[in-house]
Amino acid sequence: MKIKRFDDKAALYAYAARLITQLLQEKPDCTLGFATGSTPIGIYEQLVSLYSQGRVSFAKALSFNLDEYVGLSGSHPQSYRQYMLQHLFRHTDFNPRNIYIPDGMAADLEAECQRYDSLLEEHPIDLQLLGIGHNGHIGFNEPGHALTARTHLVTLEPETRAANARFFHSEDEVPRQAITMGMGSILKARSILLVVTGADKAAVVSEALAGSISTACPASLLQTHADVTVLLDRDAGRELHDSSL
Ligand code: F6R
Repeated sequence: MKIKRFDDKAALYAYAARLITQLLQEKPDCTLGFATGSTPIGIYEQLVSLYSQGRVSFAKALSFNLDEYVGLSGSHPQSYRQYMLQHLFRHTDFNPRNIYIPDGMAADLEAECQRYDSLLEEHPIDLQLLGIGHNGHIGFNEPGHALTARTHLVTLEPETRAANARFFHSEDEVPRQAITMGMGSILKARSILLVVTGADKAAVVSEALAGSISTACPASLLQTHADVTVLLDRDAGRELHDSSL
């Protein structure tokens, strides 16, 4: 695991965008795995800026998103499809045919999970971008006694719904279920880029990266992957000491 620390978020976002751009230059038809939430927004802004300067193209790339809410159509303002359109896809040359996001409105949600897994098997992810939840979740893989490897349906934890309520009018509006790639599907990515900012994530960063590997902290499973790069701002990294790694 490579850990890189940054004094400020702007430098961190620029570095992450550079890593993604480098991959696109080496392999224009690469498959990128994307996350939503607050953390990647600065990276997407950088990618849009690099694209508008003509320094990168996404025309041949494929993209897979980690997760989607159940019960929100792709046109709902809080759906993850809209998030991706708003922050990245609409402003770049991604081919809409190459954009994959689970369909939270599918009539048969189990079949939708299987369809997504088959697509992932067909198109292995070259680089998976990840954020982390305060409880150590990755995608919507919530802590528990057991984790599901493949793409599956989840019931969201009250803590996760409360954290995501900031994007809705009220907590009641936050969907209760989601489709998420499983930890097994995520760990199949050739490389993983975990990005964490803010003092409120300092404790979970240290638990995930320096604690024991446990389903109680899904992000701790990243310790088992051979190619993980972690980008931390000063606040997020303040409880992680090099001696504990
Ligand atoms: C969403 C996702 C989540 C977020 C996590 C952190 O696609 O994968 O696991 O990465 O909830 O969210 P933020 O960045 O909003 O703190």
